[in-house]
Amino acid sequence: MIEQSHPAGASQFVVTSNRGFAAYAQDELRALAPGTKFAELIAGETYAMRIPLGREEAIAAVLRQEPIFLRHMHPIDAEIACAGTDGDIAPIVSAIVRLYDPADRGAAIAVQIRKAEGFHPGYETGALRDAVSAALKEANETEMVVKDAKRIVSVFLNNGVAYIGISPPEYNLSDWPGGAVRFRKEEGQASRAKFKLLEAEYAFGLDLSGFRKALDIGAAPGGWTSLLLERGAEVTAVDPAVLHPELLTHPRLTHLKRNAGDVQFPPDTFDLLVCDMSWSPKQMIKLLLPLLAALQPGGTAVITLKLMHGKPFQTVKDSVRAMQPDMELHKAKQLFHNRDELTVYLRKRR
Ligand SMILES: C[S@@+](CC[C@H](N)C(=O)[O-])C[C@H]1O[C@@H](n2cnc3c(N)ncnc32)[C@H](O)[C@@H]1O
Repeated sequence: MIEQSHPAGASQFVVTSNRGFAAYAQDELRALAPGTKFAELIAGETYAMRIPLGREEAIAAVLRQEPIFLRHMHPIDAEIACAGTDGDIAPIVSAIVRLYDPADRGAAIAVQIRKAEGFHPGYETGALRDAVSAALKEANETEMVVKDAKRIVSVFLNNGVAYIGISPPEYNLSDWPGGAVRFRKEEGQASRAKFKLLEAEYAFGLDLSGFRKALDIGAAPGGWTSLLLERGAEVTAVDPAVLHPELLTHPRLTHLKRNAGDVQFPPDTFDLLVCDMSWSPKQMIKLLLPLLAALQPGGTAVITLKLMHGKPFQTVKDSVRAMQPDMELHKAKQLFHNRDELTVYLRKRR
């Protein structure tokens, strides 16, 4: 095993973005720590990062100013030779047992195993996961879980080397393997777009059940609206298109079958405004500005920003600036369920 013996003030991580957006994440990470270097594991998506900061210092820097396009990261605490044969399993397992902190005895752990594209080991990753789980259980009485783990054991298998790290979930930015958030599709679900708002709730630490009156702009076919109704809000959905028929009879829903530019509300009507209009951000913000007046001071806005011309940082900056001084940006994040877009979470100043 090669324990990570970096020169003081350097550490390594496996970092993941939505496919095609890794270059933006790399720009953000280099801005945090100039001199940071990347080696490709999955093209445009997953990279081994060497950052000129110590492990804890690097994690603190990322958490302080979370990069928009960084979906997931895990530390590389050890590197083990990996040939893709059954012979890999024992050394990987014993390295993990050695790395595991005995102070975390009895903890709930998740074991997350990923591999590079095109690397096809002769064993199932499930077999490796079971072996890791059994060995940690025996050595440290850990209990393997899928969610709500206290520690995540991450293994990334690449041709020639396995990268191993053990970290609390918050250090990984997401407790889903590689940040790939998987929700189960429900019967009769109005749209897959619902997953975007579900993921935003989780990524932004929002409690959607805390809102009483929500305005959903560009609501059809109704995935976001249905989630807000499920969470207990009274929802005004604005969209000239039709909503999913199951929603229409909901007693807490008002559907205004109109263009967003043609509706008006008294000031302070809503405590939540969401918008997933999938339009040019500039045009969309123009339409939204008068509607933001209907949001109460302290109210929340969750807005999808479409990335039109490959200048995402400028798009966020321009869009937020157009909503100032009333709205304050809390977080911008490209979610796993975002495609050529990202999601911003803002609050109205009091
Ligand atoms: C991506 S879909 C929204 C999906 C929705 N969030 C869901 O969960 O089902 C975009 C919607 O924006 C609506 N839209 C586009 N321009 C609009 C406008 N000016 N006013 C209101 N709605 C608009 C479209 O009709 C379309 O239904």
